[in-house]
Amino acid sequence: MIRYSRVVGTGGYLPEEVRTNEQISETVDTSDSWIYERTGIKSRRIAGAHESAASMAEIAARQAIEAAGCDPQTIDLIIVATGTPDLVYPSTGCLLQQRLGIKNAVAFDVQAACSGSIFALSIADQYIKSGAAKTVLVVGSEICSRIVDWTDRGTCILFGDGAGALLLSVTNEPGVLSTHIHSDGDFKDLLYCPLPQTSVNKNEQEAGYISMRGNEVFKVAVNTLGRIVDETLEANNMDRSEIDWLVPHQANIRIIAATAKKLKMSMKQVVVTLETQGNTSSASVLLAFNEAVRDGRIKRGQVVLLEAFGAGFTWGSALIKY
Ligand code: ACO
Repeated sequence: MIRYSRVVGTGGYLPEEVRTNEQISETVDTSDSWIYERTGIKSRRIAGAHESAASMAEIAARQAIEAAGCDPQTIDLIIVATGTPDLVYPSTGCLLQQRLGIKNAVAFDVQAACSGSIFALSIADQYIKSGAAKTVLVVGSEICSRIVDWTDRGTCILFGDGAGALLLSVTNEPGVLSTHIHSDGDFKDLLYCPLPQTSVNKNEQEAGYISMRGNEVFKVAVNTLGRIVDETLEANNMDRSEIDWLVPHQANIRIIAATAKKLKMSMKQVVVTLETQGNTSSASVLLAFNEAVRDGRIKRGQVVLLEAFGAGFTWGSALIKY
């Protein structure tokens, strides 16, 4: 039997606090109109003091498990994508495993910045296809508000907190059609976030916040995402007209629109959540996917293209028959 992985459940969590553009413009020199026109963002969610990547991951994961109607003890692999783990170690994956009380799974984290969910999905798919796992929990959880410098108007307007999850299970019909992941460390200086205690650079030790050359990141992101669309279609011998939905990483509406244009897709076929969520890094694609599944836009049998781009640079896509 040829093994494939298939999405059997999705979940998501957004913290309660809403931070609007107006609120941000009270503390840095910006405006609601500037932020909305340049990014498409109006507000974002901010996690409470009691919350963390693991606590948000737990809520999203429980939702995905419930939607799948599966016994959590059948999960044999847990992969958490996060750039904002609760601890350096144990991994957020292990913390999530403990919270869920799942005994016989292996758990670990994947760090690929905003592309983390696609990287995690790709690894999960390989494990299932190879026969090494049967049921895999994939979670992206981020508490970006704690690594954002709230005095830097170039970054603090962009990010938000949240968690998204999906459960993949083995099946003999596709499923995940293909995944494609890439990285290029040559771009490390355009977008990075140092961990003060372990940085060798003294300036970085003082900071501990996201540092980004936004305009340069923007240009590479648009070109790279255009290329990954071609790569994904070619690998599946598919025409762009066969894709029903685009679920992109939610960094900037202008980047999303450029990818949709490349696919000759109407924005009505694109799942956009960033207006009220901002960029939730590795959670964003999973949150958007969950939203469109739950509100009935994405239906069983439809073909969905997921894609993301982030620090590293890292980038990737997943083509899924839902
Ligand atoms: N409010 C008002 N003015 C601002 C703001 C702000 N919040 N931020 C920057 N400006 C100013 C700049 O100072 C500049 O002024 P100047 O012309 O006088 O020098 C002007 O606006 C234009 O600045 P740009 O940086 O060129 O603006 P741009 O149109 O590129 O928008 C943005 C900035 C929104 C950050 C955009 O570049 C972007 O979205 N970049 C990509 C982000 C991304 O995709 N990141 C990857 C994923 S994140 C991850 O992996 C963790």
